[in-house]
Amino acid sequence: MKKLILTLIFFLFFFIPSHSNQSVEEIIKGRKAMFSENYQNAKKISILLKSKRIEEAKPLMEKISNNYKELLNYFPENTQEGFKTEALPSIWENKDEFNALMQKASDDMIELAKAINTVKDFQKIQKELMWNNCSSCHNRFRAPH
Ligand code: HEC
Repeated sequence: MKKLILTLIFFLFFFIPSHSNQSVEEIIKGRKAMFSENYQNAKKISILLKSKRIEEAKPLMEKISNNYKELLNYFPENTQEGFKTEALPSIWENKDEFNALMQKASDDMIELAKAINTVKDFQKIQKELMWNNCSSCHNRFRAPH
């Protein structure tokens, strides 16, 4: 009986904290990986569009859009610090605004995939519907790096 209780205490003190800690790590690392992937894909889109390879760029726009939607789930309350996160506390103080920006960034990528069929100035439309969303979110919600 004593042994059982000791084992239970051991589990409570060591297993549960280390387990929940691991999932915070997974979430923070997971969101960083998705932002990095978006950055790589955004750069690829720019390169493709320089040579007018619209159809090759479109799936990457969709991929970025989907990542943004997925990212809405990657900022729970318990992931405000640790694991070199650059997320600012302002995210959790203004969660609705942050989520709205994320959703807008996602919608704008779908918009870009449509607009690119007819628009003349590729650089201007990319700035409006892709790059501007990065900076407007980073300015308020990501630590200087
Ligand atoms: C709605 C908000 C939002 C938008 C839009 C956004 N980001 Fe970020 N980004 C963040 C936040 C918050 C972090 C910090 C995440 C962390 O460290 O936990 C981040 C981190 C990053 C990182 C660093 C990832 C790492 O490995 O640490 C890169 C690169 C990045 N963003 C690129 C971009 C690019 C490029 C765009 C636009 C195409 C973009 N982001 C759009 C909020 C945003």
